[in-house]
Amino acid sequence: MEQSTEQKLGIASDHGGFALKQELIPWLKERGLDVVDLGCHGLDSVDYPDLASKLTQGISNGEFARGILICGTGLGMSMAANRHLGIRAALCTSGYTARMARAHNDANVLCMGGRVVGGGLAQDIVDAFLSQDFEGGRHARRIARLDEAVTE
Ligand code: RB5
Repeated sequence: MEQSTEQKLGIASDHGGFALKQELIPWLKERGLDVVDLGCHGLDSVDYPDLASKLTQGISNGEFARGILICGTGLGMSMAANRHLGIRAALCTSGYTARMARAHNDANVLCMGGRVVGGGLAQDIVDAFLSQDFEGGRHARRIARLDEAVTE
């Protein structure tokens, strides 16, 4: 994996993504990544916007360059994260979508569905997300326009 191990990676889930989060954390640490677990910490029902906010705040204040959010489908987490200025959260279901989310969209948050992808596929998705660089160029112009569209 080419990502700098000096940069912290935030990860959070709701109860629907808890099992996958718990499976991924040791795997990420084995790969030398400095992973910060922002919760949740069990299977009790929690509200995904609260967990998404913990991660997006960490990205906004510079603690994390990137992060991972997992709920049951990945949908709620991606909707919640994308409400925050400067966040480009991508719901990915394959290595291809994760690679393109980085190459063309400079995504800084990877969202996955813990009830959608298994552990092996999730590892492929995370690998692609962490190793692919942003291509810049015309894509930089386009992503700059995303935040221009935010009205409040
Ligand atoms: C929780 O049951 C579920 O709604 C949540 O994890 C997520 O899938 C929402 O988008």
